[in-house]
Amino acid sequence: MLEVHRLVTRSHLSSFVCSLEKLGNHQRLFGKGVSAPKVKGSTRLSSVWKRCLVMSATSVKSYEYVILGGGNAAGYAARQFVEKHGLSGHKLAVISRESVAPYERPALSKAYLTANPPTRLPAFHTCVAGGGAPQTPDWYAKNGIDLLLSTEIVDCDLNSKCLTAKDGSKYGYGKLLIATGSDALHLDELGMQGAHLGGIHYLREIAEADKLYEAMKACAGKHAVVVGGGYIGLECTAALVINGVRVTMVFPEPHVMARLFTPEIAAHYERIYAQKGVNFIKGTVVDSFADENGSGQVKYVRLKNGPVLEADLVVVGVGAKPRTTLLEGALAMEARGIKVDGHLRTSHADVFGAGDVITFPLKMYGNRMARVEHVGHARQSAMHAVDVMMGATTEPYDYLPFFYSRVFHLSWKFWGDTPAQAKTIVVGEMNPKLVAVWIDQDGHVVGTFIESGTEHDENKLKELARTRPKANVARLEEAAAANDVDGFLNAL
Ligand code: FDA
Ligand code: NAD
Repeated sequence: MLEVHRLVTRSHLSSFVCSLEKLGNHQRLFGKGVSAPKVKGSTRLSSVWKRCLVMSATSVKSYEYVILGGGNAAGYAARQFVEKHGLSGHKLAVISRESVAPYERPALSKAYLTANPPTRLPAFHTCVAGGGAPQTPDWYAKNGIDLLLSTEIVDCDLNSKCLTAKDGSKYGYGKLLIATGSDALHLDELGMQGAHLGGIHYLREIAEADKLYEAMKACAGKHAVVVGGGYIGLECTAALVINGVRVTMVFPEPHVMARLFTPEIAAHYERIYAQKGVNFIKGTVVDSFADENGSGQVKYVRLKNGPVLEADLVVVGVGAKPRTTLLEGALAMEARGIKVDGHLRTSHADVFGAGDVITFPLKMYGNRMARVEHVGHARQSAMHAVDVMMGATTEPYDYLPFFYSRVFHLSWKFWGDTPAQAKTIVVGEMNPKLVAVWIDQDGHVVGTFIESGTEHDENKLKELARTRPKANVARLEEAAAANDVDGFLNAL
C-alpha cells in the first residue's frame, strides 16, 4: 500500500516522492494494484503525480542495507556482510563522498607520506590491516555490492527511509549503518584571520594527503609550522622531517600528546624530535596567518602574545569533529556524537552507527558513554553493528580502548583507561622500550602503554588492561627505580 502524505511542506513532498520511488523500485513503478494517491485539499495533485512518475522512473534505487560513508568502518562493515553473513545480490550499497573505495585511513599520515616509494592505492584499501586482501572496486562488484563513490548524501529522511544525494538521486534502505566519521577542525571555520590562505594543509582524506605530499616535496630544506601537538601534529612533523623539511611545532599544552602522555612519557618523544631538529613552541596558539605582497600563499604565522614565525608550509592538526550534521534533530545525540546503545542502535529503528561518529557505552567501564576517534574502534564497531543488523548477536559491543602511533623508528601502543586520579609508573629510556601503567585509586592496573614492545609484551599489556588485576605497586616502583623494564613487565 502507498503511504499517503499531506503535501504541506517541501519536506513532506520530498518524503512522499521518496516513498513512491521506493515502491516503484520494487514493483516496477505503478504496476498492477497501485493507484494514484489521494491527497486531500491539493489541487496540484496531477502535476505532483506526474513529477513523481518522472523522478521514480529515473533515479530510484532501494537496498536492504545501506552503509552511509566510505571510510574505515564502511570497509570493515562491507567485509562482514559478505564474509560472515554471505550477503550478495546487490542488497547492499556503500555510499561515499570520496572518489575511491574505503581505505585504511591511518596510512595517510604514515607510509603515504614517508615510505620510499610512498604507499599508494590499491595497496591499502580496507581490510589489509585486518589481515584481508585490499577490497578494490572489483571486490565490491564481484560480491554484488553497489559502491557509490563521489556521492555526497545531503539529506537523510528517516521516516521515509530515504537518502538524497547532492545530484538529487535518492536511495531507499531497509536498515542503515551511519559511518560518516569525522572531519578535521578547520581554523577558518573558527574565523581565524588568514586561515583561508594557500599552503595551509589539513589531513583527513586522500586528496588532502596528495596535496600535502606535493607541498612537502617542494619544501625540502625549507621551514614548516605544524599547528597542534596531537596525533596529526606528531605524525605529520615526522613525515616532514623525513622529507627534509625543518619544523616548528606550536601547541597550547605544556607537552606533546597531552590527551594521553604524561609529562614523563612526552619528554622522551620530545627529546627524539628535538634531536631531529624539531623546535617546540608550547603554551600558545596561533592568532592569525598572513601572506606576502598579496600572494595568497601563507608566509607568516602570528602567535598569540608571541613571535611571528615564517613558514613555507603549514600543517594544522587541532582536532576533529564528528560528521553528524545530516542527522542533527533527527537522532538523539550525546557528547557531539550520534548516541547509540550497546547494540550500536541509534534512537531510530533500523538505523545503526559505527566509528568516529557515534557516542557509545563502554561496557567495561560501567557503560560510561564515550566517543572514540581511533581505527580499532571503527573496525570493531562496524563489524559488531553488522552482526546486530543481521540478527547474529545479542551481545553488547565490548570495546577495550586501544590507541597507537608510528613515527620515525618508533611505535607505541596503549590499551585501557587513564582516569584523572590514576597513579602512573613509567620505566625505560626508549632504548628501545618504554613501559607505563596507570593504576586506579583501588590499586588496579587500568591502562598500559609500551614503546617498541615485542608481540609477547603487547599481548600481556593488552590482557592486563582488559582484566585489570590488582598491582604490586611496591615491586613495580622498585623495578622502575632500577630502570629494569623486563623486571617491571614480569612484576605486572
Ligand atoms: P572515516 O573518516 O574513516 O570515514 C568516513 C567516511 O564517510 C568518509 O569516506 C567520508 O567521506 C564519508 N562521508 C561523510 N559524510 C558523508 C556524506 N554526507 N555522504 C557520503 N559520504 C560521507 N587511528 C588509529 O587508531 N591509529 C592511527 O594511526 C590513525 N591514524 C590516522 C591518520 C590520519 C591522517 C587520520 C585522519 C586519522 C587517523 N586515525 C588513526 C583515525 C582513524 O583513521 C579513524 O578513527 C577512522 O578512520 C574512523 O573511521 P570511520 O569510518 O568512522 O570514519
Ligand atoms: P588531537 O586531538 O590529537 O590533537 C589536537 C591538538 O591541537 C592538541 O595538541 C590541541 O591542544 C591542539 N590545539 C587545539 N587548538 C589549537 C590551536 N588553536 N592552536 C594550536 N594547537 C591547538 O587531534 P588531531 O591531531 O588533529 O587528530 C585529528 C583526528 O585524527 C583525531 O580524530 C585523531 O584521533 C585522528 N588521528 C589519529 C591518529 C592515531 O591514532 N595515531 C593519527 C592521526 C590522526
